[in-house]
Amino acid sequence: METTHRVFVGDSRELSQVADGSVELVVTSPPYPMIEMWDDLFAELDPAISDALASGNGRRAFDAMHAQLEYVWDELERVLVDGGIACINVGDATRSVDGSFRVYPNHARILEAFEQRGFEPLPDILWRKPANSVAKFMGSGMIPPNAYVTLEHEYVLVFRNGGTSREFEPRADRRYEAAYFWEERNRWFSDVWTDVVGELQTINEGDEELRERSAAYPLEIPYRLLCMYSTYGDTVLDPFWGTGTTTLAAMCAGRHSIGSELENAFVEVFDERVEDVPALSQSVGRSRLERHRAFVERRREAGKPISYDAEYYETPVVTKMEREIKLRKARTVDRIEDGYRVEHAPLAGD
Ligand SMILES: C[S@@+](CC[C@H](N)C(=O)[O-])C[C@H]1O[C@@H](n2cnc3c(N)ncnc32)[C@H](O)[C@@H]1O
Repeated sequence: METTHRVFVGDSRELSQVADGSVELVVTSPPYPMIEMWDDLFAELDPAISDALASGNGRRAFDAMHAQLEYVWDELERVLVDGGIACINVGDATRSVDGSFRVYPNHARILEAFEQRGFEPLPDILWRKPANSVAKFMGSGMIPPNAYVTLEHEYVLVFRNGGTSREFEPRADRRYEAAYFWEERNRWFSDVWTDVVGELQTINEGDEELRERSAAYPLEIPYRLLCMYSTYGDTVLDPFWGTGTTTLAAMCAGRHSIGSELENAFVEVFDERVEDVPALSQSVGRSRLERHRAFVERRREAGKPISYDAEYYETPVVTKMEREIKLRKARTVDRIEDGYRVEHAPLAGD
């Protein structure tokens, strides 16, 4: 099996390279309005934003920043198939503008924008970021009432394009082989993820500067979302591609991908990151199998029966639907004209 991964340097407010109805899943994390690291970028997209900030009008700046993101949300509505899913990772912002501290609720604003475009909101996910400082509390320390809680979570907002789910041909292999294990379902489809960071090895562990400048999310986030909301052969789009974490996840998970990113510098360094994809995909798949086997062992010790056998792997599984699971690994990655081609093989079970 082969997948292609196209990457464009450009402005996602107009995704002219992406055809209508050609994407099954969007996984992305936009620049967060009212987080200072993105002020310059937003001001380039609309100079009125720096005027609003300079004049101390935080609410106007917030609205104007979201207006820029909304051009991209329009494009998502166009390129997603009916029933396709959009997963938007975003955090709220806290900020003092003109001496007044408040929260800018990015998640609520994006939810509203998607609903206005005909998307149906599905239950969302909260995940906890690593807390990196004990000196993080804001406000007046130990004395009530003027201290504020710190925001240590992000949202993955989940939307379906239109009112009905996607339809598949009966017994489609690409769905059944892409099944996840029962215990993965229980963890992944829970609404609060506290176990994200450090779960999967990431390629850019050594490159903190790049990660900070891009605000990259951990590989585990797009990898899980891809496994949850797409099948083999689907195409995932990330219109705020950054360092390409979504594409790495797609390469590991056997899905096609498209990325679009304003900053050429990120796209340039990606060539080096993909060299590790065959090893990364192998370790991601292996760790899923190992975790499953450890789960089976614990269940056995607890005296709980497991009724079915997987067909491709030597392991029992809890439900009928998991029997055909066939994980993929990337065998080779080649550069093609506007991206990469990945040759996949089933991940062996021993
Ligand atoms: C939060 S970062 C995404 C990080 C990414 N998830 C990762 O793991 O590396 C947002 C990215 O969107 C890009 N961006 C912002 N506005 C854009 C636009 N209109 N078109 C394309 N890219 C844009 C920024 O340059 C930045 O790299």
